[in-house]
Amino acid sequence: MEKIRFGIIGCGGMATNAHVVGFNKIADKCQVTATCDIEEDRAKNTAELLGAQFYTTDYKQVAEHVDAVLIALPHDLHHEVGMFFLSKGVHVLMEKPLCNTERECLDVIEEAEKRDLTLMCAYPVPFHDWVVKLKELIDSGEYGEIFQMSIWTEQYTDCETFPWAKSAKRLGGGQLFSHGCHYIDLLLRFLGKPVSGTHFGTNKGTPWMEKEGNSNVVMKFENGAMGYHFGTWGARGSSHGYDFQIFTDKGFFEYNKEKDTIIWKCDWDPNAKGPKIIEWKFDDNSKQTQNEIEYFIDCIREHRKPMTDGRSALEGLRVIWKLYEAEENNTIADLRGLGF
Ligand SMILES: NC(=O)c1ccc[n+]([C@@H]2O[C@H](COP(=O)([O-])OP(=O)(O)OC[C@H]3O[C@@H](n4cnc5c(N)ncnc54)[C@H](O)[C@@H]3O)[C@@H](O)[C@H]2O)c1
Repeated sequence: MEKIRFGIIGCGGMATNAHVVGFNKIADKCQVTATCDIEEDRAKNTAELLGAQFYTTDYKQVAEHVDAVLIALPHDLHHEVGMFFLSKGVHVLMEKPLCNTERECLDVIEEAEKRDLTLMCAYPVPFHDWVVKLKELIDSGEYGEIFQMSIWTEQYTDCETFPWAKSAKRLGGGQLFSHGCHYIDLLLRFLGKPVSGTHFGTNKGTPWMEKEGNSNVVMKFENGAMGYHFGTWGARGSSHGYDFQIFTDKGFFEYNKEKDTIIWKCDWDPNAKGPKIIEWKFDDNSKQTQNEIEYFIDCIREHRKPMTDGRSALEGLRVIWKLYEAEENNTIADLRGLGF
């Protein structure tokens, strides 16, 4: 089978730190044939790392060399560049968040549908091996029903290496929009349809951010479960780091990124004979972008709708926009009916 020819548009931090590793791991399935960055040395360097024959500073030159592109650009460019490639018949794997407004998201979704092309939002988390395992364990029904899911992502991100992220207009919002979108997406995947929620964000501790650098979300879901995400870009130290906890009516799951381990505990179960602890250990706590790229390729080949397609990505962003709006109006966000 012919390899899918990929272009990478935007060879900054995400492309070089994560996607280069991912593409190299699945070199039997695809070939990066073109790279682009307005900084020529970045395009050249990424081309060399992936054996691409062509590099350029003008993204419009890439279309003729590729079947698909990964767009890893500042958020305010996602729409323009996404629309260009879709209009040229190129499949698009778009870094998150899909686009900065509802209209922009709908434009790329409708263009992809009109042209029968694959459009996928590059959320890597649902494809991480531990998330796949956790979902499988929950879906088995053996570990009970979730009533609370709590996620902490505590980082220090001062935007020195990507200064465009300080601007609310370029980023499309603050920490919640740019980073929290991963975990709103995840909460929706695990907990279903949200009904209401609140968000508080400030930039105290992250004064470089125009909008919030600290973000605190609580949501209630149709099935009565609660979801929580606390994210900060101002953590000068942290004990949580990345920590995911799920409480079910039978026990408790925790994934800790540093240990790359899921732990199950049901030590409060009155019927259990002594504490019960199970551990699932993984061996790669990197971004594992090869999983999402490989899945995107399979969707193109098998003509399948990706799990993180444009419409599901837009649903998560609608939740975020509603949370921002309610925060501004000092009300509780009504999150019903935002999906497709
Ligand atoms: N999935 C994740 O975990 C994750 C993590 C970080 C970033 N991201 C996403 O990746 C994308 C890029 O973020 P980043 O951190 O790599 O930013 P970055 O600033 O490091 O990289 C962006 C690159 O785009 C280039 N660029 C800007 N305008 C251009 C244009 N018109 N044509 C070609 N190149 C242009 C810049 O020179 C830069 O090299 C964003 O969507 C971001 O949200 C995802």
